[in-house]
Amino acid sequence: MTRRVLVTGGAGFIGSHVADAFLGAGWHVAVLDNLSRGRRQNVPAGAEFLHLDLGSDEARAVVAGGRFDVVCHHAAQVDVRVSVAEPVLDAEENILALLNLLEGARAGGCRRLVIVSSGGVVYGERRPPHPETAPKLPLSPYGVSKLAGEHYLACYAALYGLEGAVLRYSNVYGPRQDPHGEAGVVAIFGERLRSGKPITVYGDGAQTRDYVYVSDVARANLLAAEADLPAPDGTIDARAFNIGTGIQTSVNGLVATMLEASGVRVPVEHAPARAGELLANALVTEKAARVLGWTPRVGLAEGLRATYEWIVKEAS
Ligand SMILES: NC(=O)c1ccc[n+]([C@@H]2O[C@H](COP(=O)([O-])OP(=O)(O)OC[C@H]3O[C@@H](n4cnc5c(N)ncnc54)[C@H](O)[C@@H]3O)[C@@H](O)[C@H]2O)c1
Repeated sequence: MTRRVLVTGGAGFIGSHVADAFLGAGWHVAVLDNLSRGRRQNVPAGAEFLHLDLGSDEARAVVAGGRFDVVCHHAAQVDVRVSVAEPVLDAEENILALLNLLEGARAGGCRRLVIVSSGGVVYGERRPPHPETAPKLPLSPYGVSKLAGEHYLACYAALYGLEGAVLRYSNVYGPRQDPHGEAGVVAIFGERLRSGKPITVYGDGAQTRDYVYVSDVARANLLAAEADLPAPDGTIDARAFNIGTGIQTSVNGLVATMLEASGVRVPVEHAPARAGELLANALVTEKAARVLGWTPRVGLAEGLRATYEWIVKEAS
């Protein structure tokens, strides 16, 4: 029998690749998105599209209808700076809408929920690389709302037997990331390269991130939907998986690889460091390898090349 998955936020950057991965594995895919930031054309042709706000009664009713074996939750307010400026809005999108989804999933007897958290924000300013069990101290309302989501999921698992898995992504990049947004340094730099404009590096460029390619992330969702999950151990970490490469790349290193991958030359300018920016981040991903059988396949140079080709194609 065909298995059915609901991908919330499936018109967005990562969610649309997740929808692609499930379709490719033979699942029936429904995408729920309010198109606040997503694009209708990102939704794959083979997927059903539900143009709904996740916080609405209609969305809850759709999930409560019991059509879905798995829900893969990507809809969110994703901008750290918006969360600092408008923490109430962030909580509405990232906590209240998730609760609406959980209530629907509980009523609808959904078997498993895969929700997305951020390994870039929940661990706070500690020395990387972070294993799942590292202490949590988010330094933004966005990080708090993502962590709250993890707690709600664990609570619903305990109360109602809903199976929940959490994927904590590092910095995801690839085709369909908004090059005009505030976040997503690869997309922003890629657009500067394409249009021949200078690239701005904040601070000395030595700050590091763990860049993971979006098709690898999408595959992790498919594996998390199907894997035997570890037994609960009384923490939110038992069924949480870091999804990254474990490799720290500096902003300077990223720029050099992007210049190389694109074959384009633009000036690189420096601006003062931004307050509150993490100096370093990378995730330990051994658990995803051991439990989910997941390891990243796309290296940085290859992924950056594919992303740049997409940016050029989109603009033409
Ligand atoms: N991009 C990254 O590097 C990264 C890292 C860690 C975690 N994440 C998480 O991954 C998920 C997807 O992020 P993305 O980068 O693809 O962002 P995105 O903005 O491209 O996708 C989010 C999608 O959710 C939709 N959406 C937002 N609020 C909604 C609502 N109330 N109802 C219905 N749809 C709604 C938007 O229209 C959009 O299509 C988010 O949960 C984000 O927190 C992203």
